[in-house]
Amino acid sequence: TYITEGKVTYKSPSNIALVKYWGKKEHQIPANPSISFTLDTCATTTTLSYKKLKNKASDFSFDLLFEGRPKEDFKPKISTFFKRTEPYLPFLKAYHFTIETSNSFPHSSGIASSASGMSALALCLMELERELNPHMETDFFNRKASFLARLGSGSACRSIEGDIMQWGLHKDTINSSDLYAIRYPYKVHPVFKNYQDTILLVDKGSKQVSSSLGHNLMHDHPFAEERFDQAHKNLTKLKRVFEEGNLLEFIKLVESEALTLHAMMMTSMPYFILMKPNTLEIINKIWAFRASSKTHVCFTLDAGANVHVLYPENEKEEVYQFISNELVAYCENGQYICDQIGNGAKKL
Ligand code: PMV
Repeated sequence: TYITEGKVTYKSPSNIALVKYWGKKEHQIPANPSISFTLDTCATTTTLSYKKLKNKASDFSFDLLFEGRPKEDFKPKISTFFKRTEPYLPFLKAYHFTIETSNSFPHSSGIASSASGMSALALCLMELERELNPHMETDFFNRKASFLARLGSGSACRSIEGDIMQWGLHKDTINSSDLYAIRYPYKVHPVFKNYQDTILLVDKGSKQVSSSLGHNLMHDHPFAEERFDQAHKNLTKLKRVFEEGNLLEFIKLVESEALTLHAMMMTSMPYFILMKPNTLEIINKIWAFRASSKTHVCFTLDAGANVHVLYPENEKEEVYQFISNELVAYCENGQYICDQIGNGAKKL
């Protein structure tokens, strides 16, 4: 029997991919496996209030508040999410939902909130599912939350847990799946503990090309097969890198993945460029600094102009000096976010 009403809140983080997901098949199945660091500071907090309707509605019934205000333009994405998840959450049309959501990072900072937002919503809905089905094991709960989050936004499935998450079938990764992300199952050298990610906000404008459009352009992309194959190989290589703590190899792999992601964008039809002049300035500064210091600072990119600066915790002071002296000047309004690898979503 359905409970009449209630409320649940989750805080769910964003994540940054090391091996990138770019290209998908039907039903949000990735064209290649990917792996990410779960972040800590960058997160979405979502409260889901639910109230049972007298009669099951013919359509989804919900209100959406973003940072306290009604937000009509997010509603189609949520409707699509409900439509896709209803087969797995058959109670969705029996309730009226109020979804209140806010981000820890500045509004329109160019930081994608789809991973944190969709994972937070998926977790709230799973909590209602658990109310109706109390004997659920934690592993199942997390796996299904990841499965549902994937249907909202592919990369969101990697935001449920921490600290390293892998999504997509890969022959050298035990228990890997296209349907949900798993915690990275192999040994990781302690140098990756508390790994730092300083996000430089180069361009806070909204993206000219959505990631769903970008994924679609991989369909008849001339280099698609080669790229998907490379992602598989990079995941295999990364296993050894993680085990040995080989930072030089880590840097090569991560930077190459970032540039390949953008190379795919530049070589699709239509082609597009999401990097800005300051993105390239920052990359060059990072290379120069790395060559002249003993640090292992490197960069990665999302589907946008912002730069994620990655480095080990024990190099924090030296790299942070460099960032504030040399890189912050390239950020829009001097804005950046200090983040690090995190442990996944939390119920509040
Ligand atoms: O989750 P989506 O559909 O927004 O795709 C995001 C893809 C990248 O962020 C560019 C790479 C990744 O693996 O997160």
